[in-house]
Amino acid sequence: MISFNPPRGMRDFYPEDMLLRNVIFDAWRSAAQNYGFAQYDACVVESLDLLKRKAGEEITDQIYAFKDKSNRDLALRPEMTPTLARMVAAKQGALTFPIKWFTIAQCFRYERTTRGRKREHYQLNLDIIGEPSLLAEVEIIRTAIKSMEIMGLKQNDIIIDFSSRTLLSDILTNLGINEEDHAAAFVALDKRGKISDEALKIILSEYGLTDKTVDQIFNSLEIKSLKDVENILPKKTESLQELLQFIDLLKIYEIDNCVNFNISVIRGLAYYTGIVFEAFDAERTLRAIFGGGRYDNLLSSIGGKPATAVGLGFGDVVIGELLNMKQDINIPDSIGGTAVGYMQQEQQTHAIKIANKLRARGTNVDLALSAEKAKKFFSRCNKLGFEEAVYIGPDDVDSNEIRIKDLKTREERTVQA
Ligand code: HAM
Repeated sequence: MISFNPPRGMRDFYPEDMLLRNVIFDAWRSAAQNYGFAQYDACVVESLDLLKRKAGEEITDQIYAFKDKSNRDLALRPEMTPTLARMVAAKQGALTFPIKWFTIAQCFRYERTTRGRKREHYQLNLDIIGEPSLLAEVEIIRTAIKSMEIMGLKQNDIIIDFSSRTLLSDILTNLGINEEDHAAAFVALDKRGKISDEALKIILSEYGLTDKTVDQIFNSLEIKSLKDVENILPKKTESLQELLQFIDLLKIYEIDNCVNFNISVIRGLAYYTGIVFEAFDAERTLRAIFGGGRYDNLLSSIGGKPATAVGLGFGDVVIGELLNMKQDINIPDSIGGTAVGYMQQEQQTHAIKIANKLRARGTNVDLALSAEKAKKFFSRCNKLGFEEAVYIGPDDVDSNEIRIKDLKTREERTVQA
């Protein structure tokens, strides 16, 4: 017997599941367009080489990889960013920078399935490539917030933690850690809390760090504010000034209230180089809603010309959970529209004409495919959640009017046929 369930961690979307998904996708699309992002798309299957990096990232261990019949090493993309970099590199000379692009992409990761984490999810990606100004970070974050506002959430429903890898780099340099080890140290430090500090010490000692230095790094991650940072670093570094400027911009955009400096935000992907951020629900009960940051080396690392970039990925799973938890958010429970039914086969032609007239006027109409008794028709209408119904009996066939019943108020109105 074949199981009727989808493979573990994968989802089916029945029509009722699409209602929530469409709320999310529609909000993503309109926010991205509202903020001037152009849509792109790509194939789900990527070459494994492009996706694999060597920094000990979790994501590279989670890749669904396979060989095709010609022995090519391929994979289902776990994220969109390497593909975006490949697409930009392929046309780098012809594109007008800065690029502002968005996509809604299905991604696959062989993860341990927990609340908020599946083996397949959709991700809104917003990326700006070729713009060094911090305005790029802020525009991207503001766009993500805008999409949540369109969904019906408020700014105080979320909290966005941010930090800076450049700043953490300055702190690591100050502790005597070689710059070439920083990227790997970030990936390791991101595992803090997920693995024991002892296990983490072992990983970090492989970069030649002594227990004392590791303790110093751990202490650095206890920093609570930018004031604390100023006290640790010998001078006001560029990275610190950059963060202060970032906060000023957040204020201009009036989103500084939902944003919070948190040095322990590092992010698990190796390619980030600057400001990094991660959004959570305000109660911090769910997994991350979205995350991103600046990545300056990805294009050159895959063979493109160097280009600075910043972007984020915003998954559909956690935001769906959050929307479901909020009582005051209105998620449609049906597709709505108008049902057209008829009592006998003799009225079918008339019903077809009425349905098509209403459709031509822009109404969404479901036409009954066979004659039904009134009771059955109206009970079906209730189950499927139509807003209005037209039921045609023998007396209606010669009429120039259409009787439309509002299924909530039970009131009837008449329009010209
Ligand atoms: P990420 O943090 O790995 O970043 O994923 C971004 C978001 O995708 C997460 O915050 C979460 O909403 C969602 N997500 C990730 N994995 C899963 C999963 N297994 N199940 C459900 N949702 C998930 C990236 O992927 C970067 N490529 C984002 C980016 C774009 N950075 C720059 N541009």
